[in-house]
Amino acid sequence: MMKMRIITLSFFVFLIGIGLAGFQTDYQHFFPGKEWKDDRGVHINAHGGGFLIHEDTYYWFGEHKIAGKEGNKAHVGVRVYSSKDLYNWKNEGIALEVHEDPNSLLVQGCVIERPKVIYNEKTRKFVMWFHHELKGQGYDAALTGVAVSDQVTGPYTYIKSVNPHAGIWPTNYPDSLKSWPVDLDRYERPSEEWKEAVVNGIFLRRDFEKGQMARDMTLFVDDDGKAYHFHSSENNQTLHVAELTDDYTDFSGKYTRVLPGLQNEAPAIFKKEEKYYMFSSGLTGWKPNPGKSAVADHPLGPWTPLGNPTRGTDEEMKTTFWSQSTAVIPVMGKEDAFIFVGDRWTPENPIDGKYIFLPVEFENSKPIIHWQDQWDLSFFDQNENTDE
Ligand code: DGJ
Repeated sequence: MMKMRIITLSFFVFLIGIGLAGFQTDYQHFFPGKEWKDDRGVHINAHGGGFLIHEDTYYWFGEHKIAGKEGNKAHVGVRVYSSKDLYNWKNEGIALEVHEDPNSLLVQGCVIERPKVIYNEKTRKFVMWFHHELKGQGYDAALTGVAVSDQVTGPYTYIKSVNPHAGIWPTNYPDSLKSWPVDLDRYERPSEEWKEAVVNGIFLRRDFEKGQMARDMTLFVDDDGKAYHFHSSENNQTLHVAELTDDYTDFSGKYTRVLPGLQNEAPAIFKKEEKYYMFSSGLTGWKPNPGKSAVADHPLGPWTPLGNPTRGTDEEMKTTFWSQSTAVIPVMGKEDAFIFVGDRWTPENPIDGKYIFLPVEFENSKPIIHWQDQWDLSFFDQNENTDE
């Protein structure tokens, strides 16, 4: 009896000890697809994530989801975590909060997806862009929103959301197509004629006056400081790559259509040895599909498809390890070491969504990913020259 009491007492002392010390993680590895606790012992809540390296620290921004079917809507905002080693993440709070004011476009219950943050050296401001849909309007608005902050973890001040490039043609759109009629009802769908009309920019011309659709997005800052906004446009049929202004808070007006008619979502960009690489996905809502990849000599393109980057079983290739790309993280202190980041969405209970971190390898000059149950950054030391 006495022994039982001592054991129970020691257990409570142990619990109090944990409570006082706070929860600390000591991950030494990545465990793709598994629950991943932050410094408070809570599964990381930063879906559709974007990563920024600032002053020797990694920052992970993402959609804060809540439990239940409504959890994909923005009830809280964009959460941010920080890390020195990529394994252990500290919850830094809400970087961009949704608004309570029903007249604000950023009102609670709107959709905020795939937030990405970049740092502007000239203005010393952190600039966040995100896919923004209006409350109660499904995915019809197809806006991109922008917010800024003086501090990396926020709070970010919302500026505006836009359908970009109203009245502006892409630089690679031929004059011969600019005056073609937009008669969507004329075509049987699906048909070869319809496909051709899409490739030739029927949606681009439809949206010319009002501004273009901008859904799944990412940002990329090149070595010369120029920043680019990549987004799924034209009913998700074609990507647009747009140069941002010098302060990163607007579009410069220069943009291109990329991979027309090839249906890319979830773009994630990185640069290796003067080449630009893209991971992306097809269009199947929250369900996974075969990943895609592409290469270019300039962010504005032209981009050349490189095929499915996933290597593994048929099931893994069909589902990108049951995930969808969201970002590529360059590893600090290691040359040409990149991590593919994907989301394993769980739309029935979005807060449960897991993350896939996998090392990017190269095979015949193509970026590829293999599954690993568990791995760490020493992978890159053993595989310095992964290209064969
Ligand atoms: C796929 C996109 O990649 C996600 O970000 C999200 O928009 C879902 N579609 C919604 O169905």
